[in-house]
Amino acid sequence: MCGIFGYVGEGASFSSLIGGLSKLEYRGYDSCGVAAIDNQKLFLKKRAGKIQKLKEGLGEKMNKKTSLCILHTRWATHGRPNKINAHPHLDSQRKVALVHNGIIENFLPLKNQLIKEGYKFLTETDTEVIVCLIEKFYKKSLEDAVLKAIAKLKGSFALGVISLDQPDRVIAVRKDSPLIIGLSKEGNFLASDVPALLSFTKKAIYLKDQELAILEKERVKVFNFQKKAVKVKVEEIKVKAEEAEKKGYEHFMLKEIFEQPAVLRKILFLYCKGKNVHFSSFKLRDEYLKKVKKIFITACGTAYHAGYVAKYFLEKYCGVVVEIDTSSEFRYRKIKLGKEDLLLAISQSGETADTLAAVREAKKCGVKVLSICNVVGSSLVKESDAIISTLAGPEIGVASTKAYIAQVFCLYLFSLHLAKLKNTIKDRKIQEILSGLKKTPHYLQEILNDSRKIKRTANKFSRFGSFLFLGRGINYPSALEGALKLKEISYIPAEGYPAGEMKHGPIALIDEYRAVVCIAPRDQLYEKMVANMQEVKARKGKILTILNNDDREASTLSRQILYMPKVTNQDLSPFLVAVNLQLFAYFVAKNRGCEIDQPRNLAKSVTVE
Ligand code: AGP
Repeated sequence: MCGIFGYVGEGASFSSLIGGLSKLEYRGYDSCGVAAIDNQKLFLKKRAGKIQKLKEGLGEKMNKKTSLCILHTRWATHGRPNKINAHPHLDSQRKVALVHNGIIENFLPLKNQLIKEGYKFLTETDTEVIVCLIEKFYKKSLEDAVLKAIAKLKGSFALGVISLDQPDRVIAVRKDSPLIIGLSKEGNFLASDVPALLSFTKKAIYLKDQELAILEKERVKVFNFQKKAVKVKVEEIKVKAEEAEKKGYEHFMLKEIFEQPAVLRKILFLYCKGKNVHFSSFKLRDEYLKKVKKIFITACGTAYHAGYVAKYFLEKYCGVVVEIDTSSEFRYRKIKLGKEDLLLAISQSGETADTLAAVREAKKCGVKVLSICNVVGSSLVKESDAIISTLAGPEIGVASTKAYIAQVFCLYLFSLHLAKLKNTIKDRKIQEILSGLKKTPHYLQEILNDSRKIKRTANKFSRFGSFLFLGRGINYPSALEGALKLKEISYIPAEGYPAGEMKHGPIALIDEYRAVVCIAPRDQLYEKMVANMQEVKARKGKILTILNNDDREASTLSRQILYMPKVTNQDLSPFLVAVNLQLFAYFVAKNRGCEIDQPRNLAKSVTVE
């Protein structure tokens, strides 16, 4: 996934535009570049590495203004993350510049054909094929040349294109990769995501799939790929600029961990008015939901773990069968979904390629799709029959934290909503559960208040070269999520395992060099977790255990303990475990001097397969 930014207008400083691009750095940060056209000259600057390198490369130019500019921050797909492969890419006459987010699946045959026709290529990227095709088709109209070029492409592409011959416009194209137009008196912008626009404008046009926009300084026209003008809806961007700032925290990840109580309060306020769960403008009819017998869950990474927790809620309270798959597996399964099935798609960004592909495959069977998503203008939301917004606000840290807690919380509420419709739960029980859920922000705050203890414990474990996370039942996914948090920001090998599987292999790994995280809330599987801890201790494994505050048994097996508030409803334990393990991972990574918000090789949303 990459970040695209662009501008056309009276004039904006390079430093302000680079500032906008920086808000997209979480999307990819292995190389970056800028192309601008002023006074009939095309200026190009590219750098390997982060945007700071580009700022250094621009030097004095940072204070200069430009009236036409496209910018890019890259997560390499085709071609090494170096300066020459960085975007923008130029045509052979250095008159057209282009930035791209996505993957051109048929770039090789196109490239070979263009080479046969005498075109030269300088880079290893798929993107260069697009600018070459534009050069090939260019006559008098940049937008016509772009339309002819993209007609040849297979794959996903969000594009920004400028040309020396038409220095009054940026051409923007959206196909299977997000692109938003920002409108202001000072000029118009294009961006891959909202944070880049926030310091310039609150007015936006969310380009729909297969649309092309011509941005001029005083107007924006939008067409479909057949060059038919389309009606556009100017929307107010609801996200506040400060929400995309660090607010004094050292890392976005830490800020987002500490925002979690407030996120849950917002969800409770909007979805739990009075005594019932109510999702605003929910588009799945009660009559349909009552008949749902089977639910399929599809998601990736942390969202998959949230779905795995939800599987326990849905089976426990709704009497439905639940299947869950990672989206990259689900999309290739040869299964027929029926009209009485429901597909639950979970995604923070709403742009994850595999999850979108899974949804598109499932929709061919006519199944209804409910998405649990954090980005209202995203592709997933547009392609779902109904959405539950997780209301977590922009999540900039690549390691997902508040979005995870919000996903699990919303899925718990949806389970209660469905159980009530299916009459598989008494009102009294719903009220009892809701009263516990309403205390969850307070429980999370208790853990956050203890972050210094968690930091001390994390520092003791930072020296270990590998971790095993063990959990049972509803906390098996908690073990998966804890392992993912640790590995993706500290680069320490870590795996989550169902504790009951330990004797079927993983116990061979246990010795004094292995750290074993045991998740042992006082639920019906507690005794079995204690037995697992005994087995680890007998083999000198270094145990870190996560226990309720009042634990008196398991706490004798290990002095290294992360505590959770005592709760009556252990369905809440995934929330309490998650916050502990998020902070644990954060402090281990910090102690090891890792780059926490932008871990190597990762991007915030994997919009390519
Ligand atoms: C989680 O910390 C990772 N950033 C990653 O696994 C992420 O959850 C996954 O790529 C899914 O992203 P999505 O929720 O935007 O679909």
